[in-house]
Amino acid sequence: MILEKINALKEEINSISAADKQAVEDLRIKYLSKKGFISQLMVDFRSVPAEMKREIGQKINELKNLATDKINSLKESFAESADSEIENLDLTRTATPYELGTRHPLSIVKNEMLDIFASMGFTIAEGPEIEDDWHVFESLNFPPDHPARDMQDTFFISRNPVDILLRTHTSSVQTRVMEKTEPPIRIVCPGRVYRNEAISARAHCFFHQVEGLYIDRNVSFSDLKQVLLGFAQRMFGPETNIRLRPSYFPFTEPSAEMDISCDICGGKGCAFCKGTGWVEILGCGMVDPNVLKACGIDPEIYSGYAFGMGIERITNLKYKVKDLRMFSENDSRFLREFESAR
Ligand code: DAH
Repeated sequence: MILEKINALKEEINSISAADKQAVEDLRIKYLSKKGFISQLMVDFRSVPAEMKREIGQKINELKNLATDKINSLKESFAESADSEIENLDLTRTATPYELGTRHPLSIVKNEMLDIFASMGFTIAEGPEIEDDWHVFESLNFPPDHPARDMQDTFFISRNPVDILLRTHTSSVQTRVMEKTEPPIRIVCPGRVYRNEAISARAHCFFHQVEGLYIDRNVSFSDLKQVLLGFAQRMFGPETNIRLRPSYFPFTEPSAEMDISCDICGGKGCAFCKGTGWVEILGCGMVDPNVLKACGIDPEIYSGYAFGMGIERITNLKYKVKDLRMFSENDSRFLREFESAR
């Protein structure tokens, strides 16, 4: 009697189906609730003779598992689908705000420098950071025993068969452009340079430069001076004065270093300019005829000037950053200070 009931229920449960979530719930109540068919079987089970209890008990358990599995899988098929999740999306909710980054101070100053030179007719040229001896030293008239060629100043990558190194200045881009271009040439070359220096507040093993080069017929030192005065006054204000002091670079003759009047004390002398009223900003000069020759340009026809300056230096003068390491530490509190300078 109970066996027949079990078999009949088994058949029934095997073929159950449901049209919606509510129908699944109805099936659960019908078979698995306290008053459901399977609980009813337990009532009948009490009167099963002891020797059959084991067999019948097992069958009731199997039936219960079957019903549970069937109903669960029906339930799953009506679980909330991805579509209904999309329907429930609140498209009017405020989005999680993205924090906008700020431009790096060195990029801000570099762009400003390049804009000023672009307005004077200079175009931008770039070159590789990994260079050979020819472009960094040899073509630029460095004698073979020049101290810059020492391991102490330059990072060498390999020394055989030719020296491959990290460029120590962006003057190497001059050579690359002159080798390929007929004058007139009027370029500025921004980029990163490397030197084998101990890192401190005042020195770093990498920094950034902008190199300038103008090659044409009849270029004179006074052209150079005028361009640099124009640059200084646009970068640091129209009251800015410049002065040129004689200096030495292998690739220029004559060579000079340029100072600008201290914009903190207006030239009177203060702690920043060490009482002199002047601060140094760049090196410059007339391109040495040896350099023109090395790059395939006839020094009898063409002459030119070059200048080079550090972007960190200009940035320090503009924003009074005291520690060079700040530029590469990615401290967002520091970087955010330049938010408005963009
Ligand atoms: N290359 C020099 C340096 O790294 C800077 C420089 C000085 C570049 C004088 C020039 C120049 O073009 O004429 O210190």
